[in-house]
Amino acid sequence: MTSAAAGAAARAGELRRLIGEHNHRYYVLDDPSVSDAAFDALMTELQQLEAEYPELVVPESPTQRVAAGVSTGFATVAHRAPMLSLDNAFGEAPLRAWEARNRTYLGMPGDAPFEYVAELKIDGASISLHYEHGKLVRALTRGNGEEGEEITANARAIATIPLQLLESSVPPPEFIEVRGEVYLTFEEFARINAGLEEGGGKTFANPRNAAAGSLRQRDPALTAHRRLNTFMYTLGAVDGMAFDAQWQLLETYREWGLRTNPNVRLCRGIDEVLAFCDEWAVRKESLNYDIDGVVVKVNAFAVQAELGAASRSPRWAIAYKGYTPNQARTVVEEIAVQVGRLGTLTPVAHLRPVNVGGVTVSRATLHNEDEIRRKDVRIGDTVVVQRAGEVIPEVVEVVVDARTGAEREFRMPEECPVCRGEVERAAGEAVSRCINVSCPAQIRERIRHFVSRNAMDIEGLGDKHIDQLVTRGIIASAADIYSLTLEKLGPLERMGDRLAASILAAIQAGKRRPLQRLLFAVGIRHVGEGGARALARAFGSLEAVRDASEEQLAAVPDIGPTTAASIRHFFHDPHNQQLIAALEEAGVVPEAQQRAPESNRFAGKTFVFTGTLQQLKREDAEEIVRQHGGNASGSVSKQTSCVVAGEKAGSKLDKARSLGVEVITEAEFLERVQRDDAS
Ligand code: IVH
Repeated sequence: MTSAAAGAAARAGELRRLIGEHNHRYYVLDDPSVSDAAFDALMTELQQLEAEYPELVVPESPTQRVAAGVSTGFATVAHRAPMLSLDNAFGEAPLRAWEARNRTYLGMPGDAPFEYVAELKIDGASISLHYEHGKLVRALTRGNGEEGEEITANARAIATIPLQLLESSVPPPEFIEVRGEVYLTFEEFARINAGLEEGGGKTFANPRNAAAGSLRQRDPALTAHRRLNTFMYTLGAVDGMAFDAQWQLLETYREWGLRTNPNVRLCRGIDEVLAFCDEWAVRKESLNYDIDGVVVKVNAFAVQAELGAASRSPRWAIAYKGYTPNQARTVVEEIAVQVGRLGTLTPVAHLRPVNVGGVTVSRATLHNEDEIRRKDVRIGDTVVVQRAGEVIPEVVEVVVDARTGAEREFRMPEECPVCRGEVERAAGEAVSRCINVSCPAQIRERIRHFVSRNAMDIEGLGDKHIDQLVTRGIIASAADIYSLTLEKLGPLERMGDRLAASILAAIQAGKRRPLQRLLFAVGIRHVGEGGARALARAFGSLEAVRDASEEQLAAVPDIGPTTAASIRHFFHDPHNQQLIAALEEAGVVPEAQQRAPESNRFAGKTFVFTGTLQQLKREDAEEIVRQHGGNASGSVSKQTSCVVAGEKAGSKLDKARSLGVEVITEAEFLERVQRDDAS
């Protein structure tokens, strides 16, 4: 055997073992420790090795598994009508030129205006839903446009996709391909990434990748856990009915219970389309999802049919992309490494400052070492950076042609850049960690997390203050916050007497936050907000969680064996024991927790809170619902029982009204809770 072949054999063995372990965690334990992308990368590597060295293919290789539950691939199914892409118009002139071309094509001189539908171009993953007599029978990804992957089980796990179209004035046809976009809100994207990060997995670079990845999960339960959302906007093949126009199509979709985007306009002529585009150049900032332009469609289907398609894209539609580009070129001056609260080392590109869509960008995340290798980003490289919505700017790609040869490759440091302590990268994990719990960077990040809004919510104490307090040795743990005084805060930069007093008041007021917040705030690896809530409910007090055995912990819904082990590990650690003791000493006594629901009066009911509430924080209002056996959700659907609308309620309120869901005020909600309390 050559030494290359011997190396390949060893690597194949290691890959089989790793994949086997991950599979077990994924399917049996339901507690994956790596992202799908990381898993797929291992699988791909093994497949490539086996293709190169066929003698390495053994029956027990995970690549040889067919029916036993692992489907790394999905079945491929042909689209009845191809799923085309769109041409782009980068600004007003190209948009007008498109119309002129269409006029010529139709042999329609003069200036009789076309009727257009202008729609937002949602930046997600496209999907095609097959309905037979109103029943969802199949769902496909776009694939190569001719055939897509069958992801029916996953589509069924998306709450906004009707399994059965509603009866309406227009009965659903024999067969129809309903098409649209699957996307994630910024909020949900952040939640997913936070979860991946806690588990040591690779995070998604943007909501679009996260949506596409979630759609192709191998386990529909995981797809369901990622709250994907949908907008349906176009038609594939249809049997047994005909539509006249795009506008009517959208109306019918809505009537059938399909989710459509409310931000559409029927326009007479290109000027009205351009007005819509200008309006959304500004308004897009207020959306909670990404768009990458406006799709302009000829309204009349008869005219669409006449125009037809040229190779890959229809002539009857175009994507207007006249917005200030959210991409720009700049130079990577340095790659620095940041240390997170759990010791995670994240490489960050320090950029020559550049204006990206109106915002100066000087940092971009590079996620982790594998990601840097994949994109081959080197120090000194010219790169394309992108800023999408509220997402941290990222490096999209390297401009390889701009290389001079002076670029330097980045190496993950072997010691922590802050404390010089040991760095570990566990097998199969994407991230490296500093394992010194006393690392000043970790201390700072842990305190930042402790005071953050979803944790102990101590308002006023900002990152810059915490930096100074830690650097000056005034505080060394979250518990030390409770010993802060006016004298200690006063001399800090960016601090006035008024602010100091209000911070101290917030610290005092925060001593009796609910247990779930404290459990989240102390920063136990793998315990996010959901896990903390489950623990608080099951155990009722910090002591009970601390004293619980691994088996007792793992018996709690939402807590898997890895998390249970991590909780035990946390409370075993002398540093953490000290922290808990110091918090107790400081008088941090979480509010007594209801172990079981206070009542079941909201059992089976789902509430959605929207707009600005006056008396309750939204999270607290949601907690009240849960304490009474109900559910709280972030989005309105037919399943919603009641929408509680605060001030400036927007699209959720509209949606509730259009679906006929009950809408009440915050006062009415509180009254209902109290009235029921009395009865
Ligand atoms: S209509 C013939 N409408 O953009 C194509 N597409 O580049 C018909 N997209 O793959 C598509 N929002 O995933 C249409 N309102 C919208 C859209 C939209 C986003 C995506 C879609 C498509 C891609 C085309």
